[in-house]
Amino acid sequence: MAAVADRGPCSVLAAARGAYEAAFGGAAAVAAWAPGRVNLIGEHTDYNGGFVLPMALQLGTVLVGSPTQDGTISILTTAPGADEPHRVRFPAPTQSRPLSPGRPHWANYVKGVIQHYRDDGDLVAKALACQQAEHTFASVPCGIMDQFISVMAKENHALLIDCRSLDAVPVPLRDANLAVLITNSNVRHALTGSEYPTRRRQCQEAAAALGRTTLRDVTMAELEASRSRLGEEVYRRARHVVGEMERTARAAQALRDGDYVTFGMLMVESHNSLRDDYAVSCPELDQLVEAALEVDGVYGSRMTGGGFGGCTVTLLVAEATERAQQHIQEKYSGTATFYVTKPSDGAKVLPL
Ligand code: GLA
Repeated sequence: MAAVADRGPCSVLAAARGAYEAAFGGAAAVAAWAPGRVNLIGEHTDYNGGFVLPMALQLGTVLVGSPTQDGTISILTTAPGADEPHRVRFPAPTQSRPLSPGRPHWANYVKGVIQHYRDDGDLVAKALACQQAEHTFASVPCGIMDQFISVMAKENHALLIDCRSLDAVPVPLRDANLAVLITNSNVRHALTGSEYPTRRRQCQEAAAALGRTTLRDVTMAELEASRSRLGEEVYRRARHVVGEMERTARAAQALRDGDYVTFGMLMVESHNSLRDDYAVSCPELDQLVEAALEVDGVYGSRMTGGGFGGCTVTLLVAEATERAQQHIQEKYSGTATFYVTKPSDGAKVLPL
């Protein structure tokens, strides 16, 4: 069983500074941190203008650097699994010569942010620029959830984000008796790349058939009434999204009320809907959720993120975390990695 990982900015910063000095000589002049995220509930709703309820992790990415004088940019990664080469150099973009994606793949997201980001101090604009980078340089037509939470997160809070208005309300999550356990299945099925855009298209198709711009504007009653007009598959995709939006609003209220039983029940409903209607789960994720739900003290568990592998998220009483990890690993056919983590702050400049 793998140990609990909890790599905050400090330990990652030391490693990043060391790698910088070894590669470029001299010390880095600036450093910044951006956290990863886990979504508690509200899956595949962001690109439908719906609600999501993520929190930022104590795990994240550090970037260190210094200005250059020769009009070029050099970047180096220490990320495990990044494709070769791990160091690249390219001309800084100009109006007439913008950057474009290419190889190595790991550098595309960085290049995309350099291309799209303008430092105007507006945090929503910052998140939107990073989303543009993912659309145009990483070729993933993602929603706004990941970038928004990474920029806006608040320590000890989840964030209820309305992905239509881009308003966000912090929801306290700091009960010492409660824990959030993330379980990495350590599998990633190849389907992810092609299925995500397909789901997005099916949602648009359903909304258009109902005369709306997004599924946010569709009620369950309207959807049911139009079932025969939509193909069965498109209907089921839309049923997940419309149901998930309702569940997410209810879950945020349950969290405010300290009603973890209701929250957990909604997580399970979310998982079942992602598995059966949205068809983005996989046997490994289903196994992990099923095993988690067998543990005394677990309120709820579900797949989290895009699906087809990746992680599950489990809400449980704090004293149950050890036995939950043990039980899940015993029941899981693969090798799981566990993280017990607290809601952390969003991206920030780190003092050097
Ligand atoms: C990926 C995307 C997000 C969101 C989730 C599913 O993580 O990047 O925008 O759509 O999938 O909720």
